[in-house]
Amino acid sequence: MPSYVIVGASRGIGHEYLRVLSADQSNTVVGTVRNIADAEERAKTEGWKNVYLVPGDLTDYKSMYAAADEVSKITDGKVDYLVINGAFISKQSADMAPTAFIGKEEFLKADAATSFETNFLGPVFAINAFLPLVKNGSVKKIIVVSSGMADTELVRSAGIAEALTYSASKSAVNILVAKYSVELKKFGITIIALSPGLVDTSEGKKPTPEEMVKYQLIANQLKSYAPNFTGPISTEQSVKAQLSVIGNLTIEQSGDMISHLGNKQWL
Ligand SMILES: NC(=O)c1ccc[n+]([C@@H]2O[C@H](COP(=O)([O-])OP(=O)(O)OC[C@H]3O[C@@H](n4cnc5c(N)ncnc54)[C@H](OP(=O)(O)O)[C@@H]3O)[C@@H](O)[C@H]2O)c1
Repeated sequence: MPSYVIVGASRGIGHEYLRVLSADQSNTVVGTVRNIADAEERAKTEGWKNVYLVPGDLTDYKSMYAAADEVSKITDGKVDYLVINGAFISKQSADMAPTAFIGKEEFLKADAATSFETNFLGPVFAINAFLPLVKNGSVKKIIVVSSGMADTELVRSAGIAEALTYSASKSAVNILVAKYSVELKKFGITIIALSPGLVDTSEGKKPTPEEMVKYQLIANQLKSYAPNFTGPISTEQSVKAQLSVIGNLTIEQSGDMISHLGNKQWL
């Protein structure tokens, strides 16, 4: 009876993790969410039998310890797979290259603070809170969802100067994963940073004309890096590919950042 905890599971890729994992009745699946009322309302329409929701905010370490306590009661004190998915993906700075912050330094400070608090400190809070449960698990795998945007090779070869704060906070994920891998090896715990690919999380919402123009520009930019790239994959494609990578992980890979394809190809 494998147990999975998905931290940050209200929508997008996190919600899809719950959906895909719920299909196997032998799984016990827990999603942590910031807004439990909204998530429970949404869950009603899914008809899940093996999915539990508990409150938790990555930026609030006390809520992560409380979530781990609640999960422990559900899973009998153990967690096999801990997936930290939630992140602050700043919309306001998504198209800002470094010099775009000239004259906007106060915004930069706030945007960087939220990005690092959620995307760097959040995984540290979550891992430290859930670690006793992971140690008790039989699989002992920790996944922190990262991004190809944190790969300096992708940034240089595809020419992506934008999304400075988000990318920097995700590159911090990569170093924290490497540090934990060194410390946790003696417990037989494997931890990786996993990029999910470029994923359409619009959930059927039509993009605005401005978003369409932006997406086209991004697609053109990415084609130079990955000529076979045809566009974003669905959340289902991404999660199924991620689960396949997670299933095949070995402790030798611990500390690395890899993609949903199991290698360093991010698209
Ligand atoms: N989509 C892509 O193409 C792509 C590419 C590379 C990497 N990623 C990574 O994939 C992961 C999921 O992204 P997504 O595309 O599914 O994004 P999304 O649809 O915007 O969902 C973000 C999720 O993070 C949660 N979250 C935000 N702040 C949180 C906090 N303080 N505590 C707990 N949860 C929090 C959100 O919960 P609320 O509903 O409460 O806001 C939501 O469930 C992220 O780590 C992202 O960086 C995505």
